[in-house]
Amino acid sequence: MKKEEFERWSQEATRWSAEYLKNIDQFPVRAQTQPGDIAAQIPTSAPDEAESMETIMADFEHIIPAGMTHWQHPRFFAYFPSNAAPAAMIAEQLATSMAAQCMLWQTSPSATELEQRMVQWLRDAVGLPDTFDGVFQDTASSATLCAILTMRERKLNWQGNEQGLSGQPQLRVYASSRTHSSIDKAMWIAGLGQNNLVKIDTDNDFALNTDALVEAIEEDLAAGRLPAGIVICVGGTSMGATDNVRKVCEVAQRYDLFTHVDAAWAGSAMICPEYRHLWEGIELADSVVLNPHKWLGASMECSAHFIKDPASLVRTMAIQPEYLKTYGQDGIVNFSEWGVQLGRRFRALKVWFLLRAYGLNGLRTMIRNHVSWSVKLAEQLDAETDFTISTQPILSLFTFRFTPNAITEPTKLDELNKALVVALNDDGRIYLTQSLHDNEVVIRFMTGQFDMEEKDIDIAFDTITTVARQLPVQ
Ligand SMILES: Cc1ncc(COP(=O)(O)O)c(C=O)c1O
Repeated sequence: MKKEEFERWSQEATRWSAEYLKNIDQFPVRAQTQPGDIAAQIPTSAPDEAESMETIMADFEHIIPAGMTHWQHPRFFAYFPSNAAPAAMIAEQLATSMAAQCMLWQTSPSATELEQRMVQWLRDAVGLPDTFDGVFQDTASSATLCAILTMRERKLNWQGNEQGLSGQPQLRVYASSRTHSSIDKAMWIAGLGQNNLVKIDTDNDFALNTDALVEAIEEDLAAGRLPAGIVICVGGTSMGATDNVRKVCEVAQRYDLFTHVDAAWAGSAMICPEYRHLWEGIELADSVVLNPHKWLGASMECSAHFIKDPASLVRTMAIQPEYLKTYGQDGIVNFSEWGVQLGRRFRALKVWFLLRAYGLNGLRTMIRNHVSWSVKLAEQLDAETDFTISTQPILSLFTFRFTPNAITEPTKLDELNKALVVALNDDGRIYLTQSLHDNEVVIRFMTGQFDMEEKDIDIAFDTITTVARQLPVQ
């Protein structure tokens, strides 16, 4: 493709995208292809000779959309959302045309300085105090890894990176049993090991039991192990489990432990002051992550990682070979020293476009609608005799089960609910996923797609009840 053809084909791509978004609710939400269907249509090796953009684009239209699960579909109720608001998409296109690698201030001062400003805008928007600074990491998994590495280095007096972990004390990190698997993975990658992530039971309100936490810390100290930090959950993945941030941070302060709050999904909702009770005490935490790419529309990958003492993060993550040094400038920030990646995308541009194009009030209205529509569906299902609400809505997430009278045996009910998830997703009008809650299979329902409307909830109710009642029940 020649450079002169760029304008034509980028207009063609924009036309395709606009059409796609206009008609997206005509597609089944989850891809309906079988494993291997798409790969079978792609040659097994790259072409030696250039092909025309006409052919490439035609193949794209013919092959790819059919094998996509449509995350921008208004009836995407699975997992957590991954939204790309139109303004964010436009910013991404502009950022891609500049193709900047934003590792250092000097490799694009606009990217670094806009990132500083956008982190500040978001910090203020979610009500965090200005004692927090921050950075955009690619994902919450990376932010959590950085936090766990910082816990590790802080407790090892910054010797872990230097000397490795052999011969060091056995470091311990604590989290509730309802935290996300990215915390387990961070423990593996940080070299601390799964067995040193101490999973603490939760109370009836699904929050980490702080008495059990204190007991576990005391037991570790008595055994000569070294407590390093606590990961606090605000809006867990299965059903929105939320710890008492203040109580956990107070325990952490007593034992000089670093705290990291995983609010990957729920954190975006804190732009609405009425939800901030969910992380009351957040000002006591050392590190907080929330994903604007989940619920705010910032498109993958954009995780806001707020940190109180950036110097400790930088001391953990920065490496400065000669070729990465910048001479002749004082007071600059090099964001590659705040995370795992050296090469970094220009993430702040989409946040800037997004926050300006919708305004905080526009985003607040969206989130409030999502929450109220989810509550509405939970109430409607609760009123049906053959459905049970397993966990009440936490923000826009609740879980339920299909519980017809004819079936009482727990394993049969589990099988029935798994079958219902498959049947719903094969039906295609909505997309849901299952989880385990108190050893029972439950169905998760989460609203969060940027363009959804109240009518999508009515379609969800009809689809769930109709498809469920068509299942063979014995
Ligand atoms: C509570 C929670 N934390 C962390 C993550 C990981 O997020 P990411 O995909 O940005 O790494 C998720 C993903 O859904 C999540 O739900």
